[in-house]
Amino acid sequence: MTPPSRAPGAPSARQDWAALARRLTPLIRSRLRPKRLRHTLGVARTARDLALSQGLDPAKAGLAGLLHDCAKGLDRGESERLLKRLRLDPLERALPALWHAPLGALLARSLYGIQDREILEAIRFHSTGSPRLGALGRILYVADFIEPGRDFPGLGRLRRLARENFSKALKGVVAGKISFLAQKGMRIHPVSVQFYNSLLESGSKIPPKSPVKTIPK
Ligand SMILES: [Fe+2]
Ligand SMILES: [Fe+2]
Repeated sequence: MTPPSRAPGAPSARQDWAALARRLTPLIRSRLRPKRLRHTLGVARTARDLALSQGLDPAKAGLAGLLHDCAKGLDRGESERLLKRLRLDPLERALPALWHAPLGALLARSLYGIQDREILEAIRFHSTGSPRLGALGRILYVADFIEPGRDFPGLGRLRRLARENFSKALKGVVAGKISFLAQKGMRIHPVSVQFYNSLLESGSKIPPKSPVKTIPK
């Protein structure tokens, strides 16, 4: 797939997130395969619901969900080419499954016109998580795991927990992702383990400093 040309009408500082999502939805629809699109729309809906229950802006969370896997439409060659614009650590560089998160943040900004640091940060870390992930990023991270299209043992409990006790659900999702990778014999990025440890140490407290600096200009 050819990388999309820049979305028209790059937004200004103050946002109507719902209007922007409506404008970008046809572009996302045209650039993702049907299965990925169903997942994406499920994540957007789940992120909106979770944001509502957590007192955050649901439209902004929905937009982050809409864009979170936007780089999944890139082929390997395009991904490799765009990766040259990013500074990934050696392990992240060695694991192609992780590329779409930093590439997604890159496309969200350069092609879809997103300037908002919370949305970019949420997309950048939706796959590995990060101890420094903000509230919106935590919602996207959980939504990506529990959206309605997913189906595996234990998911019903996590979906209930996400509504009743979000920080407990977040811990469960991080643990679930780490143990899934371990069971498959796959490598686990240290930042995911750090995220898990930080949740045990600090509960739901979110550090003030954002890791968004890892998204290049
Ligand atoms: Fe993803
Ligand atoms: Fe996803």
